[in-house]
Amino acid sequence: MKNDSIENKNEYKEFYTEESSVYQRKRYETLYGKIFKTLHHNILAEVLKPLKKNDLVLEVACGTGHTSILLAELECNFISCDLTPAMMQHAKQRVANMPVQPLFVEADAKILPFADNSIDWVVSTRFLHLFPYEIQVEVLTEMLRVLKPNGKIIVDFDNWSSRWLLALPFLIYNLVRYQRIAPYSFYNKISKTKEILSQLNASVDNVIGVGGVQLVIAGLFSKPLAVKLGHFHRKPPLRFLAEQFIVFAHKL
Ligand SMILES: C[S@@+](CC[C@H](N)C(=O)[O-])C[C@H]1O[C@@H](n2cnc3c(N)ncnc32)[C@H](O)[C@@H]1O
Repeated sequence: MKNDSIENKNEYKEFYTEESSVYQRKRYETLYGKIFKTLHHNILAEVLKPLKKNDLVLEVACGTGHTSILLAELECNFISCDLTPAMMQHAKQRVANMPVQPLFVEADAKILPFADNSIDWVVSTRFLHLFPYEIQVEVLTEMLRVLKPNGKIIVDFDNWSSRWLLALPFLIYNLVRYQRIAPYSFYNKISKTKEILSQLNASVDNVIGVGGVQLVIAGLFSKPLAVKLGHFHRKPPLRFLAEQFIVFAHKL
């Protein structure tokens, strides 16, 4: 897959249009998916605590609404955007009965239809791992463009260290599931990711590890136990075992 082409954008749109009806079930309703969802939401809710009532939040690549539902529960004033209308349709249904709902906008994260310095928080989950570093830089630059000075950005990445440690099981999983070696996924190093953000004039406030497929072993006995163990992956020394890491930064 060529990552920087129009064909690539259409490939993602096609892929996620097909995937839209099963995405939520495959990612968040399996045993591991449920453990991940709890850990992820707990961390995001904590990081979002300083949010003020009138802050405007932009959620980039909302997909089927995994994070939109949390933002709605927190009663945020927010806009959710995504490239794929079929994915957003599920997000719309997911938040339909919530007291607060976002404005949904179809948009490419590389050309966000929002003014410079207009957003207080940008939140984007399980998205940037679709791209290699150079495209991540483009997308992050765009997210930072719309963010107000001192605005906050929350983005997550696939964690290079745990992915390589578990390379063999992941290879088998990807071959069985997608008939590919590693579909739609790029693994980030924490140090390199921090470097990129500081080059883009953002200051990193925290990097928190989330998940880890090995937690499923504990989850077979008890989900609360798996969630408890997952807390050890938040920071060093065990952060290298986390499946993903969340970066919390602000624009300088
Ligand atoms: C792996 S899903 C993540 C969805 C959701 N944020 C979550 O945490 O579950 C990736 C999403 O990125 C969207 N996407 C892919 N390329 C995009 C682009 N260039 N601009 C905006 N969204 C894009 C897809 O349509 C899909 O909904």
